[in-house]
Amino acid sequence: MSKIFEVLERLEKQSILEKSRQADVPGDERMLAITKETGELLNMLIRLKNAKNLLEVGMSVGYSTIWCAEAINENGGSIITIEQNPKKIERAIKNFQDAEVLDKISIREGLAIQILRELSLEEKYKEFFDFVLIDADKENVIEYFDMILPMVSIGGLIITDNMLYPEKYKQDMIKLSRHIQANENLKTITSSIGNGEEITLKLR
Ligand SMILES: C[S@@+](CC[C@H](N)C(=O)[O-])C[C@H]1O[C@@H](n2cnc3c(N)ncnc32)[C@H](O)[C@@H]1O
Repeated sequence: MSKIFEVLERLEKQSILEKSRQADVPGDERMLAITKETGELLNMLIRLKNAKNLLEVGMSVGYSTIWCAEAINENGGSIITIEQNPKKIERAIKNFQDAEVLDKISIREGLAIQILRELSLEEKYKEFFDFVLIDADKENVIEYFDMILPMVSIGGLIITDNMLYPEKYKQDMIKLSRHIQANENLKTITSSIGNGEEITLKLR
């Protein structure tokens, strides 16, 4: 088995222990990772699109990032990923080293709003990203979406996690879903895979 799948498997075991409360992990150290089937979905979408310029908001310890890195392993792509928690960044770097994908990943440490603002000011990132995963705090999710949209290429995809679960995010995610549906430049579906994945295509 490749190093990537060894690391993914280890993180999956850790995530199961965490979710089932078999492991007592302090709140700010929890992985809060996407499900394995969501990882498979992201991986397949990236491969189908042959996406090369990836952006992730909410890296945690890098489980979703590694699923994305696996998909761009042979196409020369790269990932910019945002995370505010330095301890999680430290763990993610170790995981990326173990999976031998660190060279594909650029970690931006800090608040998502601030980093997205910085990226959006750079001309280079206008319509640059062809695949985006949004998986950070949910109260700012519409703001993140709107800041990201001009940086997404025509035909680019934005995936948003937690559309259906957990229940506590439901109201924020319903607002996001309506917001996306009201934009005629976008095509979107809510998939029931994992915790509910919004798959949004930028048409024009
Ligand atoms: C749900 S977890 C991400 C899980 C990751 N995508 C995965 O599947 O492996 C959300 C992460 O976003 C980070 N986060 C939350 N709010 C943030 C913010 N405002 N700016 C940057 N990172 C944030 C948290 O520290 C946490 O690690």
